[in-house]
Amino acid sequence: MKLWGGRFTSKAHEIMEQFNTSLPVDKRLYQEDIAGSLAHVTMLVHSDLLTPEEGELLINGLQEILADIESGELKIEGNYEDIHSFIEVSLTERIGETGKKLHTARSRNDQVAVDMRLYAKNKASGVMDSIQQLIKSLNQKAADNNVIMPGYTHLQRAQVVTFSHHLGAYAQMFARDKKRIENAIEILDENPLGCGALAGTTHNIDRDVTTSLLGFTKPVDNFLDGVSDRDYLLELMSDFSIIMMHLSRLSEELILWSSQEFQFIKMDDAYSTGSSIMPQKKNPDAAELIRGKTGRVYGSLFALLTTLKGLPLTYNKDMQEDKEQFFDALDTVMDCLEIMSKMIDTLHVNADKMKEAVKAGFLNATEVADYLVSRGTPFRDAHGIVGQLIIYCEEHGKAIEDLTLVELAKFSNTIGDDIYDYIDYENLLTKGNKGLMKEVLK
Ligand code: ARG
Repeated sequence: MKLWGGRFTSKAHEIMEQFNTSLPVDKRLYQEDIAGSLAHVTMLVHSDLLTPEEGELLINGLQEILADIESGELKIEGNYEDIHSFIEVSLTERIGETGKKLHTARSRNDQVAVDMRLYAKNKASGVMDSIQQLIKSLNQKAADNNVIMPGYTHLQRAQVVTFSHHLGAYAQMFARDKKRIENAIEILDENPLGCGALAGTTHNIDRDVTTSLLGFTKPVDNFLDGVSDRDYLLELMSDFSIIMMHLSRLSEELILWSSQEFQFIKMDDAYSTGSSIMPQKKNPDAAELIRGKTGRVYGSLFALLTTLKGLPLTYNKDMQEDKEQFFDALDTVMDCLEIMSKMIDTLHVNADKMKEAVKAGFLNATEVADYLVSRGTPFRDAHGIVGQLIIYCEEHGKAIEDLTLVELAKFSNTIGDDIYDYIDYENLLTKGNKGLMKEVLK
């Protein structure tokens, strides 16, 4: 069933109808579509384009449709072009001829634009809540496990850090992600309803009425831009992509840390799976899936960027493709944030293994050099001396702190017995600005 057809002499081919319909995808916009229509009707009454009686009839009909969809009585299905057609046709079937007045001074172009902005705005704040939940999980796990671990560069043991500081790095990344979404919401918060198909309307409508009823900060300034702007979807999907990149990096670390080679953490059984052939295995599937789904979200972003890149102003049907990409990216990022948060909540930290790895890695070598500097040795010379020391330790299977003062004196006569205290892993985290790593940042 269509909203047009007057100028057509023959019917669309069935395959064309299937190709053209967006109902199976955009049916999830029903709340926004009805909210947009309710505001539009109120504005039409306010602007004397509908009588109050007509307005009431339309509003009651729309509210009934909403209630029936929510209760499951009205199923969104059938041979309709899109959610806008479905609701308008359903309304006219219910309330009769007045239903045909709903679309006065409106086009599906500004209608779909307003639906998507409302939807994106609402869901983006849901993403912010999920990010906050993950930050909370990271902070809690950090507070409960303020223990030392090796810090890495090039995936080689580098210097001692704390597990809390390591998780805290991710909390910082996600806090930035949240800010980015907040910023995207601020930019998208403009009302495109009233732009019409592309060139406004000859009716004296009042865009401020729908703007305030729908909770936007202002009407868009340019009609052509209002109906063809999908930047906010690209921006949110860019933000989702960055979130996924962060989740993927964290997943990669969880996968490594839970391996037999590291054994720094144990994932809870609830977020792991077994092997169908190797009975001993416990696989970090949840983390692997998050890492894998990152590609999918990047893909959605690039699909829509590519769809939009050659489009002349204003609305083109190509834009209908925005929904599948946006919805999929949104669902994926929401699922991944939730799973990650639960995985962090339930993971078990093996502090002893981390400590062992710290001790075996000469992770206080830089601090030995710092010690020598504090005794007057220029840093570059100190660096060379400690290099020699490491060779000696490797040859003798010892850690630096295990060497006797006599052994140490072979490398520098400035070394006193205060060195042991200086290079102790726990102690060195209280020196200089390293104390920050002992704090759990909120
Ligand atoms: N289903 C369409 C979309 O998602 C709605 C807008 C239709 N506009 C039009 N001029 N055909 O983009």
